[in-house]
Amino acid sequence: MRFFILLLFPAVVFGQDAPAGSPERGHQAFLKYQCYSCHGTVGQGGERGAGPRLLPNLFPWVAFSMQTRTPRQDMPAYRKDHLGDQDLADIYAYLRSVKPSPAVANIPQLNFEGRR
Ligand code: HEC
Repeated sequence: MRFFILLLFPAVVFGQDAPAGSPERGHQAFLKYQCYSCHGTVGQGGERGAGPRLLPNLFPWVAFSMQTRTPRQDMPAYRKDHLGDQDLADIYAYLRSVKPSPAVANIPQLNFEGRR
């Protein structure tokens, strides 16, 4: 059934936009709910493979919320009574607000002479 919905209305699944959230509160929630301990403080991925990097290719909202509520593998599940919908939207807003890192070539300190 879900497959047919997907075929007929891809926008329902992929185009669904995230509810509004606050990046500032999301940052606090990302720390409070321990997301950072596996995914790194800016979603760069955890040490020794604790959790995959979440950025720069952030999951679309629907996939993101599904993964957080009902993880597909080893990640602990965050149910609604533990992590509210607004907190989840805030976390998403925070991850969206993280700026991508500059390319190595654009970091002057890493631009050693003759190594360009
Ligand atoms: C105990 C470690 C741990 C914690 C805490 C954790 N995660 Fe994860 N996360 C994982 C692992 C491992 C995966 C890989 C897929 C799986 O196991 O379900 C994952 C996958 C993901 C993915 C999909 C990314 C991908 O490429 O697979 C998202 C999005 C995500 N986590 C968000 C969150 C959020 C938001 C929180 C906090 C509310 C959080 N995680 C807390 C371990 C963790």
